[in-house]
This record gives sequence, structure tokens and C-alpha cells, in this order.
Amino acid sequence: MRLGIRLQLLAALGALLGLAFVPLFFAVASLTSASMTQARELSARALGRAVAAHLATARATRPPAELEPLIASYLGQGGVAAIAVLDASGNRSTSLGNAAALKAIPPGIAPGAEEIRAVRTSHGAALLLIVPSAEPEPGSVAVVIRTDAEPAAPLVRLVALYTGVMALSLLVFAYFSLTRLIVRPIDELSRAAGRVAAGARSLEVPRGGARELGELGESLSRMMAKLRADEEALRTKIAEIERYAADLKSAQQRLIRSERLASVGRLSAGLAHEIGNPIAAILGFQDLLLEGGLDPREQRDFLERMKRETERIHHVLRDLLDFARPPVREAGGRPGIVEVAVRDALSLVKPQKSARGIEISAEIEPSLPEVTLPPEGLVQVLLNLLLNAIDELGLADVKPGRILVRAHQTKPEGMVRLEVLDNGRGLANEVRDTLFEPFVTTKEVGRGTGLGLAVCRGLVESAGGSIFASDRPEGGARFVVDLPVAEIP
Ligand SMILES: Nc1ncnc2c1ncn2[C@@H]1O[C@H](COP(=O)(O)OP(=O)(O)OP(=O)(O)O)[C@@H](O)[C@H]1O
Ligand SMILES: [Mg+2]
Repeated sequence: MRLGIRLQLLAALGALLGLAFVPLFFAVASLTSASMTQARELSARALGRAVAAHLATARATRPPAELEPLIASYLGQGGVAAIAVLDASGNRSTSLGNAAALKAIPPGIAPGAEEIRAVRTSHGAALLLIVPSAEPEPGSVAVVIRTDAEPAAPLVRLVALYTGVMALSLLVFAYFSLTRLIVRPIDELSRAAGRVAAGARSLEVPRGGARELGELGESLSRMMAKLRADEEALRTKIAEIERYAADLKSAQQRLIRSERLASVGRLSAGLAHEIGNPIAAILGFQDLLLEGGLDPREQRDFLERMKRETERIHHVLRDLLDFARPPVREAGGRPGIVEVAVRDALSLVKPQKSARGIEISAEIEPSLPEVTLPPEGLVQVLLNLLLNAIDELGLADVKPGRILVRAHQTKPEGMVRLEVLDNGRGLANEVRDTLFEPFVTTKEVGRGTGLGLAVCRGLVESAGGSIFASDRPEGGARFVVDLPVAEIP
């Protein structure tokens, strides 16, 4: 758990003052206690000497019977706990006082020099004072004065009270000053930042407190203003980008529209050309026939020519229909077997006169899966590609012309890839981008309508596949057909 700044401040100040004042208290208390004990010992010594001197005199002048009441009168005064009058051999002649204190006087004290000993009785610390006396006979007086009473205790309590009050007031003072200087401005800054986070537009700088915190607030406020300006600039940029994106989109749509119009234009132009020419020819023959005056042989010749032109129109229209309505893949329709289709297509193409002198070979990966394009479609696509390659090799006059049909399964897509490669001149630049559109051809009238590849694309795409063409690095063209594998029913 994380404590608030106030609690942490309080704990730190408390620990600091504790560290400073507790040793100070113990030092002062022990000093006071020591000096009090010293003073007590001094006074005990003076008292003991006076009592001993007085008793020594009394011993010399009074009979021993009077000594006892005199001794008794001293007991209890200034801590005097026991008094013993000792003869020359150290035996007690008279002794009175507290039993525990009397025990502290050792037997057999020989008279000699004055002696002071610190002793312990069962009641506490005491001083034993032995004062020698010479008259009327040598001996000594022993006085036990208690020093264990705690004269320093009230003073020590006073010192404790003083240091306690001092520490507490310092703590309160430091706490309130630090709160006013640091904690409150930080609180204000934090609240202001919270308001900014909630959406306020400006940061209020705390007025009171330490100068550094004021400066921090000013810096934050400046940073906010900069952020606001940046945000504004960003908004403007985003609006600009949105405008550009909209412009781009409408331009793209215009482009698509015009491209569509262009395709329609190309389609109609091709159609007009491919159908218009035979129709014009037919019309010409009809005029000649209607004029009459032709012999039967000529009439037959014209009719045969009209038939050929009509067949040409029919052929174009059939191809166009194939392109416009490629056979729809029926659910559960027959899948195509690439190996069989390649064999069929090659057996149709190889006997052609135009294929003579061309080496046609095939490399088919064994156990290829069946594809989604039905067998007739597959043969038609292969035929169109093979006939194009044969046309190209004938036109390019390459010796020897070579055509390779390849098929394998691609990894990791798992499609069946069919390739037709030749060693002709490659794709002509003017048709490279529009190869698969209808009526795009480089061949002269009567030799090509430009529908072959358009039909291929229609068939392949209707089977969920794709077709593309490229030049081979070693020369020639490469047509690639990718077909999905048919699902096993
Ligand atoms: N193997 C190839 N090498 C070079 N160019 C090719 C090849 N195959 C096709 N082309 C180019 O693509 C054009 C379009 O071919 P596509 O099969 O669509 O029409 P076409 O062969 O001209 O006429 P159609 O097939 O309708 O009789 C061709 O005219 C030719 O320029
Ligand atoms: Mg063709």
C-alpha cells in the first residue's frame, strides 16, 4: 500500500525528531541524575562527619547511657539510617538504627583514617562513613546514610516533559510549514492535472507554495499550451488528409468509370470490326445476286462465299458468348483431370498442319489431384494456349519451335499450376496489359479475333482460378493457369 505524502512526511519527521530528542533526553537525564547523586554524596559526607564528631565529643563527656537517646535523635535526619559507636578493637559499644543498614557496618573496624564506602543495604544504596575518635579512648563512629532516594526523579521528569513538548511543537511546526509550502501546491497541481485529463483546456497554476513548484506549474501550463497548438495542427492535418482521401476516391471512381467505358468502347469496336466486315461482304454478294445476270456457277460461288462469311460471324458470336457466359461451375460438376486434358489437347493439336516442325512436349507431375474446371473447359483453355503458341512460332519463324506443357501442385497454396511455354518472340508490348480482354489481338483480320485468351480467363475464373502471362527470361512467352483442387465428394 502506498502512503500519502502527508503521512509519509509525518512519519519521516517523527523518526527524525525521535532520533534527535531521545538521546538528548537520556543524556540530560543521566547528567542530572549524576550531579544530583554527587551533591547528595557530598551532603551525606558532611552530615556523617558532623554526626560522628558530635558523638565522639558526647562519648567523651557523657556516660554511655546518655548516648543512646542522642543517637536516636539523629536517626532519620537527612537519610541517616544507622549509627554505631565502635571501640578500639572495632566492636560495637552502642548501635542503633535500621537492621538492614546496621548489617552494612562490618565488624572489626580498626580505628584509623576517615573512610567512606559506598555500600548496598537490602533497602538500597547507602554511604558508610567511618570517623575515628581519640577521646576518651581510641575508637570510631560509623554512620550509614541512605542515598538511594531518587532526588533526581522530579528533575528528570521535567526534562522529559520539556523535550517531549519541544519535539511535538517542532513536529507540528515542520508539518504545517511543509504542508503549506509543498503538499498543498502539489495537491492543487494534481487536481488541476486531473481537470485537464477530464477535458479542461487550461491548467491552473497554484498560487502559494515554494517557488520551484510555482515554476513547475508554469512549465506544465506552457507545455499544455504547446500540446493544444500541436493538437490543433494535427486536426487541421487530419482534415486535409481526409479531404485528399475523398478527392482520391472520387478520382479513382472516375478512373474506373472511364476504364469501363474504354473497355466497352474496345469491345464494340472489335465487335463492329469482326462482324461488320463479313456483313459488308455478304451485303456486297447479295447486291450482285439481286442484280441478276449471273450464270449458275457464279451464283453458287457467291452463295458459298456468303456461307463462309456467315460462318465467320457465327464463330465470332459463339466465342463472344463463351466469353460472356462461361459455363457456370455446377455444384458437384465433373472435376477435370489435368493429365487427361493435356493428352486430349495435344492429340487435337499435333496433327494440325501449322504444328508441323514444332516440338511439343509435356511434363506432368504424377498423381496430380483433380481440379475444379470441368474436362471440356480444361481442354478448351489448353487448346487456346497451344494454338496461340503455334501461331506465334509460325509468325516468328523460329527453328526449331518448341512448346512445353507443364503441370505441378504449388506449395503451400496447394493449387494445380498448368503452364504453356514457347520459344517465340514473347509478348508484344502493345497488348501486354490487355491480353485477356476481348478483341485484343496482334493478328491480321481473318487469322485472329482476339477472343481466345478472354475466353480462357472467363473459364479459369469461373472455376475459382487465375491466369497470367509473362515473358520467359530465355525468350518466349509463358502462360500460367492456377486452378483450385476439386473437393472429393
Ligand atoms: N504464345 C504467345 N506468344 C506471344 N504472343 C501471344 C501468345 N499468345 C497470345 N499472344 C498475344 O495475345 C493476343 C491475344 O490472343 P488471343 O488468343 O486472345 O487472340 P488471338 O489469338 O489473336 O485470336 P483468337 O484466339 O480469338 O483467334 C495475340 O494476338 C498475341 O498478340
Ligand atoms: Mg488465340
